[in-house]
Amino acid sequence: MQKLLTGLKPTGEITLGNYIGAIVPMVELQEEYESYIFIADMHAITVNQDPMELKNRIRKFIALYIACGIDPNKNIIYLQSENEYIPAISWLLECTTYYGEASRMIQFKEKSKQNANFSVGLLTYPILMAADILYCDADLVPVGIDQKQHVELARDIASRFNKMYNETFKLPKPLIKEEGIKIKDLKNPTKKMSKSEANPNGVITLLDTKEQIIKKIMSATTDSEKVIKYDMENKPGISNLMNICVSLSNETIESLEKKFAKKSYQDFKKYVADVVVKKLEKIQKRYYELINSQELDAILDKGIEKTRQIAKEKYMEMTNKMGLTRK
Ligand code: TYM
Repeated sequence: MQKLLTGLKPTGEITLGNYIGAIVPMVELQEEYESYIFIADMHAITVNQDPMELKNRIRKFIALYIACGIDPNKNIIYLQSENEYIPAISWLLECTTYYGEASRMIQFKEKSKQNANFSVGLLTYPILMAADILYCDADLVPVGIDQKQHVELARDIASRFNKMYNETFKLPKPLIKEEGIKIKDLKNPTKKMSKSEANPNGVITLLDTKEQIIKKIMSATTDSEKVIKYDMENKPGISNLMNICVSLSNETIESLEKKFAKKSYQDFKKYVADVVVKKLEKIQKRYYELINSQELDAILDKGIEKTRQIAKEKYMEMTNKMGLTRK
């Protein structure tokens, strides 16, 4: 079985857009691959974080992912910072990576411009990412287009290491998420629903209450026509609500157009709000069971035990090949 690996930084809030665009496809992929899914908390600290907030967010993210259907029996789920061999491997890889290569990364160029006092961690970020990917010989790395260059760097680093010290790493391939349904902001439906959006009324997060969800959907921007018809260009608000509804239920665009042919926008919005509330109620029920439970700790303990052993073996192989050990 091929290995798939992906990581998520615990930053911001998880939105309905993230759920439909990234989590649902991951839930589908877990059936076909041996999957490694981790929270990239060490990547989060490349920029300033409030320690208490970060700790809470890490737990929240893991609980939410499991609540959304990432199955701990099918995936190896763990916290990056609990596997001490990952930064150790990263150091070994840093010493076989050129400064020029790291400083050419687009994310580094953009982020280092935003703050004159950026950390060295921002430069070595993709090398830590290479360690994340290479230690377990991942075949496929599903990421957004913004991380493609980093996966390609991991491939280059692996290939160079193999040439210098003999075959050690598998060369990973990025798996770029296909253009699936993009969920838009409810207030500005020409823009992507984003966790960093200033107007929270346009964004539904996975832990919004029933009242918040209803209020946000009922006040979503639509158009002055009265027809419920899918037309992303001329009716982006209504089309976005249709996309949300179709993604979370058995409805299709056609079935919705038929069902609401003679109904008002109000009726349609009420229906969409009901679909979203029902879906998120299920996720939230599981989330609140998990968040303070020992079950969550047991899942992470099991995950870390497995990955630590794999990473330890790779680390030993690398140090040995590089001439670092006594034996
Ligand atoms: P993070 O949490 O910032 O992003 C998680 C995933 O979402 C994708 N993504 C996007 N895709 C398209 N458009 C966007 N605007 C957008 N924003 C986020 C990201 O590409 C990513 O797939 N560096 C990683 C975390 C990581 C990782 C790894 C991933 C650390 N080590 C090893 C894979 C393998 C990141 O950006 O996380």
